Amino acid sequence: MLPPIDLRSDTVTRPTAGMRRAMMRAPVGDDGFGEDPTVRRLEEYVADLLGQEAGLFLPSGTMGNQIALQLWAQPGEEVLLDAEAHILHYEGGAPERYAGVRLRPIPAVRGLLRAEDLYAGGAMDWEVRTRLVCLENTHNRGGGAIYPLEPFKSLVDRARALQLRVHLDGARLWHAHVATGLPLSAWSGQVDSVMVSFSKGLGAPAGSMLCANQEAIREARRIRKRMGGGMRQVGILAAAALYALENGHLEALAADHEKARILAEGLAGVPGIRVDPESVETNIVILEVEDHPVEVFLARLAEAGVWMVPFGPGRLRAVTHRDVSRKDIEEAIRRIRRLLRRG
Ligand SMILES: Cc1ncc(COP(=O)(O)O)c(C=O)c1O
Repeated sequence: MLPPIDLRSDTVTRPTAGMRRAMMRAPVGDDGFGEDPTVRRLEEYVADLLGQEAGLFLPSGTMGNQIALQLWAQPGEEVLLDAEAHILHYEGGAPERYAGVRLRPIPAVRGLLRAEDLYAGGAMDWEVRTRLVCLENTHNRGGGAIYPLEPFKSLVDRARALQLRVHLDGARLWHAHVATGLPLSAWSGQVDSVMVSFSKGLGAPAGSMLCANQEAIREARRIRKRMGGGMRQVGILAAAALYALENGHLEALAADHEKARILAEGLAGVPGIRVDPESVETNIVILEVEDHPVEVFLARLAEAGVWMVPFGPGRLRAVTHRDVSRKDIEEAIRRIRRLLRRG
């Protein structure tokens, strides 16, 4: 059995020795009382980076998105989002179960909405009240697509004109920043709330953050507690995120983008696989395979020592990250070519 090359997700990254040392040394306190100095430092640091007033450290990105839904919409009210959104597909039905909101999925190319897609109901008694728009940048099911800034601004303007709040699922906003050179706040400074993750490409073992204005974050703390997300001496986790941000893990995402391009270019033209290298903007590569069902191909791929995940009918997702090298990517391409030659 060949040593596997794990391209299932960037969440598989492991904390480095330096990160572990930083975690061990972190000053801590009871975050329930707002007294963990490392958590507070991270919250201030990240809120500032994102152009928001305040931050709230959270166990997961899902919790950040779900808190945002509860902040900005009441049960029975409507939330607009693109039809491929993470909130819709991968959060276990939490919007309906916990926030009690109605989701209105809007078809969009690569998950990126346009200003003219937004429509708000509620003027008439019989219409559901629309309260919130959720945007995702980079877009996971959209193959790591980045929101271009001008259309993003127009979307936010249109949402404001319709008196809608805007939440940004920025689990991988870091990648949009590194790929474009634009500041994170170019996107996140415009919205009412933003969630970012530390446990994906940045390589921390856990943690995400919701940022918004002071008042919203005070309310978000209550909702976090109600959802069972209250934490105590979690400075040890916040230290991992701080370490990543202060020790080059953010800048290193550029290498992940490069590896994703190499993977896509290496697989383009391989019989049995369809991939468009032009569409690869960050660290996610979507492959279409002719083998049916897709699970059969995935199993053969795993036997050949390459791990990916299914991503809808006939589709696979590969994600590059700091724990796979350029050599690993070249080896993955060789293994896949060999597998498909054998038929
Ligand atoms: C775009 C996006 N949003 C939210 C999440 C949820 O993060 P978590 O797995 O930490 O709950 C993910 C996780 O992969 C994601 O890709």
